[in-house]
Amino acid sequence: MSRLLAAWCALACACADALRVGVGIADVTGPPAEIGFMGYANFEQTGHGIHLRQFARAFVLEDEESSTRIVFVSVDAAMMGNGVRKEVIKRLQKRYGELYNEHNVILSGTHTHSTPGGFLMDFLFDLPILGFVKETYAAYIAGILRSIVVAHTNVQPAKMEYGETEILDANINRSPTSYLRNPPEERAKYQYDVDKTLAQVRFLAGGEVLGVINWFAVHPTSMNNTNRLISSDNVGYASLLCEKALNGNTTLPGKGRVVCAFASTNLGDVSPNTRGPRCEFSRARCDQERLLCTLPKERCFASGPGRDMFESTRIIATKMFDAAMKVLKQPGEDLTGPLGIVHQFVAMPNQTVSPYDPVTETFNETAKVSGCLPAMGYSFAAGTTDGPGAFDFTQGTTTSNPLWNAVRDFIAEPTKDDIECHAPKPILLATGRAKFPYEWQPRVVSCTVARIGGLFLAAVPGEFTTMSGRRLRSVVAKTSGAKRVVLAGLSNIYSDYIATPEEYQAQRYEAASTIFGPHTLDIYLNKYKELTDAVLKGSAVSPGPQPPDFSELLITLVPPVLWDAAPWGKEFGDCVRQPQPQHGWGDVVSAAFVSGHPRNSIRHGRWYATIERLESEQDDAWTIVATDADWETKYIWIRNSKIMGTSTAEIEWEIPEGTPPGTYRIHHYGNYKYILGGIYPYHGFSDSFEVT
Ligand SMILES: *[C@@H]1O[C@H](CO)[C@@H](O)[C@H](O)[C@H]1NC(C)=O
Ligand SMILES: *[C@@H]1O[C@H](CO)[C@@H](O)[C@H](O)[C@H]1NC(C)=O
Ligand SMILES: *[C@@H]1O[C@H](CO)[C@@H](O)[C@H](O)[C@H]1NC(C)=O
Ligand SMILES: *[C@@H]1O[C@H](CO)[C@@H](O)[C@H](O)[C@H]1NC(C)=O
Repeated sequence: MSRLLAAWCALACACADALRVGVGIADVTGPPAEIGFMGYANFEQTGHGIHLRQFARAFVLEDEESSTRIVFVSVDAAMMGNGVRKEVIKRLQKRYGELYNEHNVILSGTHTHSTPGGFLMDFLFDLPILGFVKETYAAYIAGILRSIVVAHTNVQPAKMEYGETEILDANINRSPTSYLRNPPEERAKYQYDVDKTLAQVRFLAGGEVLGVINWFAVHPTSMNNTNRLISSDNVGYASLLCEKALNGNTTLPGKGRVVCAFASTNLGDVSPNTRGPRCEFSRARCDQERLLCTLPKERCFASGPGRDMFESTRIIATKMFDAAMKVLKQPGEDLTGPLGIVHQFVAMPNQTVSPYDPVTETFNETAKVSGCLPAMGYSFAAGTTDGPGAFDFTQGTTTSNPLWNAVRDFIAEPTKDDIECHAPKPILLATGRAKFPYEWQPRVVSCTVARIGGLFLAAVPGEFTTMSGRRLRSVVAKTSGAKRVVLAGLSNIYSDYIATPEEYQAQRYEAASTIFGPHTLDIYLNKYKELTDAVLKGSAVSPGPQPPDFSELLITLVPPVLWDAAPWGKEFGDCVRQPQPQHGWGDVVSAAFVSGHPRNSIRHGRWYATIERLESEQDDAWTIVATDADWETKYIWIRNSKIMGTSTAEIEWEIPEGTPPGTYRIHHYGNYKYILGGIYPYHGFSDSFEVT
């Protein structure tokens, strides 16, 4: 190993000057009202405001010697889809020609479950959102593009360092019985049933931190399926804390120079709800499959460690932030070195490969296994303990989703081959056979391996479970000889979960959602070995089949905004409920305003709400101390009457400890849609109040 290390060092020293890095951050917040959230598949979980805005955090890396470029973007969204990526690349090419293309752009979703959906195009994924939502799609494309453009224009000579630490009390395995199906010899290599390591890459220029990427395996499901305010959840808040710490605590969210991402990795079976699953009323320990909750209508779900979901989010975020800051302060391993990247689209059902033996860590060349057409198993409908009873498919006759009712009968029956291929999974939805109205789940996925100096990064198109991720990292490490390997989750295309073949036998949620059958992981292990080899040798791989394009077929049932109106005698922006005149630290100040529909304009980086402090009475000069993207604020939008078009914006500010005494006010901004056409901006203030 020391010889290898020496080799990397030699490389690093020789090429240290060749690495150039740019970072960029941009607002990608989706439409904040009336659009379904992506993740829990809960038809009733639609947005009505903002707690934490969504951001895209971009890292553009350039190796001057080989003129290789790599783009990595961590996006506060449930996942990424091929339609969004394709459009981002198309627009990048308009500006920069062939510099950025399908081979070198990695978009990785953080997997927050509290952000607007409808951007994926595959029918099953957009179904709970009532189909495709152009507004979400456009918002994500615009924000991601902007973050990359900012990073592109800031590219400068940089060094790359690696560090890591353990966080012991921020994640648990939510399918521990499935994990136990993995061979004991393999499990004996690991102390825990989830990864506890926070891996960190930081880029430095002139001794200063330019940007940081942290990977820690945890579902951003601290906010549960009753939340209706847009939130980047635990990882998003950790990023905001880290960026405030690195840019100064008065920097507004998304406005700092230094960017700090907490990106997704092998989080498939990993929950942040560390108190574990309990029955809703009796508080007895439970398990969603063993139905230990016996009271009528009692559900089993996980929560904690806080009193409520907001406090839980804050606690998990703070643990990750503290760990990242600790690593940042320690000396890092210099991994600066040459860049390389290969990408391939892979038709999963068409693959036949040698299975992997996790005990001997070898592929059995004499045996062959294959992928299946996509299908979902029954346990998928039960949901997880992070979001129980998600799709109520088994009682499909009276669901509240009109889109589901309309297409229910078009789902194809699985064939005998499908049933055999997926066994022991009982097929609930033969999504790979469904042709109406268009593809339900992808068959073609996106696979990337990047070499970033001494680090190998495997970007995967879904949610690898803990052990699946460990196997993948181990194959990439063994093939590349690299000491550091990270897995970037939910990248480019979303194809649900990837459980190990052993976990698959248990058919819990993650296995039921492993859509290409029991050997899905074996296919990936073979593929990433091949891609890693290609990066090492600098050889080209075939681009693979293009995923199909459904952009002409998309269905949406999301109604448009019709019009807005102010109540009689009022104007848009009028403050209709004033804050109390005096407040102290820890108080929640709130005000209500006559509002337009927030879907009228996406207001990226321009806010719906700010909190302002009076700097100079003489000049009537106010400075913004917090925005609707800050933890301390909540922007809540309420439709009063759809027919009249009236609505209210409620803005809350929880005054943080340490807030300087002074005069403050709440400022609301928006856009209204005039009944005879046209969209117009408005704004309004509350009366001022004192913080003492
Ligand atoms: C900024 O905020 C962080 C997190 O709350 C805190 O740890 C740090 O001390 C603050 N820094 C300054 C300079 O106030
Ligand atoms: C969600 O969290 C809230 C507390 O913030 C709690 O009252 C509610 O029961 C939770 N629901 C689920 C389904 O987890
Ligand atoms: C996969 O296999 C099917 C059936 O054999 C074939 O129709 C299809 O063209 C193949 N797809 C790709 C991308 O190779
Ligand atoms: C490899 O697979 C073949 C065919 O399934 C099987 O007979 C053999 O025992 C396997 N070899 C090892 C080392 O597991």
